[in-house]
Amino acid sequence: MTIYKRTSMCGELNSSNIDQEVVLNGWIAKRRNLGSLIFCDLRDKTGIVQIVFGDDISKEVFDKADSLRSEYVVGIKGVVKRRQAVNDKIATGEIEVFASDLIIYNEADTPPIYIKDGDNVDDNLRLKYRYLDLRKLEMQQALTFRHKVVKLARTYYDENGFTEVETPILIKPTPEGARDYLVPSRVHLGKCYALPQSPQMFKQLLMVGGTDRYFQVAKCFRDEDLRADRQPEFTQIDLEMSFVDVDDVIEIQEGFLKRLFKEVMNVDIVTPIQRMPFDEAMSRYGSDKPDLRFGFELKDIADVVKGQGFKVFDDVIEAGGEVRGICIDNGAATYTRKKIDKLIELSKSYGAKGLVWIKKENGECNSSVNKFFDQVQLTEIGEVFDAKDGDLILICSDRAKVVFDTLGFLRRHIAGELGLLDDSEYKLLWVTDFPLFERDDETGELAAMHHPFTSPRLEDVDLLETNPEQVKAKAYDIVLNGVELGGGSIRIHDRALQTRMFKALGITDEEIESKFGFLVEAFKYGAPPHGGLAYGLDRLVMLLSGRNSIREVMAFPKNQAAQCMVSEAPNDVTEEQLSELGIKKL
Ligand code: AMO
Repeated sequence: MTIYKRTSMCGELNSSNIDQEVVLNGWIAKRRNLGSLIFCDLRDKTGIVQIVFGDDISKEVFDKADSLRSEYVVGIKGVVKRRQAVNDKIATGEIEVFASDLIIYNEADTPPIYIKDGDNVDDNLRLKYRYLDLRKLEMQQALTFRHKVVKLARTYYDENGFTEVETPILIKPTPEGARDYLVPSRVHLGKCYALPQSPQMFKQLLMVGGTDRYFQVAKCFRDEDLRADRQPEFTQIDLEMSFVDVDDVIEIQEGFLKRLFKEVMNVDIVTPIQRMPFDEAMSRYGSDKPDLRFGFELKDIADVVKGQGFKVFDDVIEAGGEVRGICIDNGAATYTRKKIDKLIELSKSYGAKGLVWIKKENGECNSSVNKFFDQVQLTEIGEVFDAKDGDLILICSDRAKVVFDTLGFLRRHIAGELGLLDDSEYKLLWVTDFPLFERDDETGELAAMHHPFTSPRLEDVDLLETNPEQVKAKAYDIVLNGVELGGGSIRIHDRALQTRMFKALGITDEEIESKFGFLVEAFKYGAPPHGGLAYGLDRLVMLLSGRNSIREVMAFPKNQAAQCMVSEAPNDVTEEQLSELGIKKL
């Protein structure tokens, strides 16, 4: 079969092409037969153009055009003409192509999903027929956009002395804190590889190996509950640098982000990017990834409400908890009792038992605790927030984690409800000085907040044994509009310090040996000071392209139940395959 040599892409034709003969290849998006004229929309990855088959062409071509159906794959020769009636809904709306010849490369059955941007199709159906879904212009644009981000990352890091190195996929578990995907070994019965949660340990080995500056567009695998910004299999732009401290890593990233925003978005971002220590982020925004596009800062009101006769607050304060609130400007009228009840319901999933509200309206304070606080006391609370007439104050009292999680959630949720989240505004922030450790909610044990190779701040090292929870890490996250885009740290390169860190974590020598023995061993032979960071590529592309799920920027994502709907993975394997791996079927 002849294949037409294409001269143009459908979506790129415009009035500058008028009177030119063009050759196009693509899919039929729509066909209308008006008797003596047949109109088709032809689609390729760049967009759609209207094709006209008139009565001046041969009967053979006209009849072929009459047989066209949606999603037939065709080649068309024709001349570009100005349209009588401009269609301003499509980019090529000023022109149309009068066809002189047509090849049908392939016919197509009626597609099971409608291939139209923004069409409201069931997600699982979309994912099952992803190859059809991908024909949508918005999906092709997402893939192209992602490609541009990756291409720019490669160029930028290359220009800054980084070498792209692939690290293995079948490895020993990497301690990033999620559950591993395991791959049973056939050769070593009863043993498993783990898929990497990140290339963390290998990139550190590359530093020991003298690679100096490494980066990789790396596939990572984490068996965790899925959300709009989480997939079991995702991609990082991962990097590591030798002979650096926090400022050096951050400076390189700011160069990348500045260039990325300029070249991909034509947006100028201001550098240096604002930095905020973790403690301040929590205290002001209730989150280690605060969205700075709006206010509603948390205020501590424990001192004002203490001993005023409201037992709920007093008990919490007594127990060392927190009483904090946020003030929603002009929120009093919008948030009716019913709407506040809804907020309380939502807050429960963050552990809150309830919320206290105060509305300032017509110079008076009304609240859910009128019985316990008089006007003077309520006004005093209002003053902490600089509350104006028409404002709504929401207060949560509980242990610190619940208060921060609840108010952090409410801030953003309410901003969303009030339409304050402007997608075209980009608020970048470095969150720094994370605690080195966090306490496991259930077991009460200390765990590394980042991973056990993260360096403490040198001024805090002496607290490792005496007051580990006060130790801050040389760790940093880059946050964009309330989403953690990436995170990293300076690593421990000193053997003695690493041993103290493992001890503080309660990791025994046997555990050290069995989990990270190879890294500890490597560090005996001259590890340079080093540090790095990894961006979540999917999240970066999602935010920059204005989508609200990373699935929209991945070609073949998993569904909510971690299944690949196209290939139907995970799936049964034969008993024979299992027995080769020494596994019995349940
Ligand atoms: P971390 O675990 O913070 O750090 O991961 C880095 C970034 O990866 C993205 N990310 C995810 N994206 C989609 N789905 C997921 N399940 C998912 N999990 C994480 C986030 C996150 O900020 N080795 C360290 C980096 C380092 O220290 O250099 C690491 O992996 O955007």
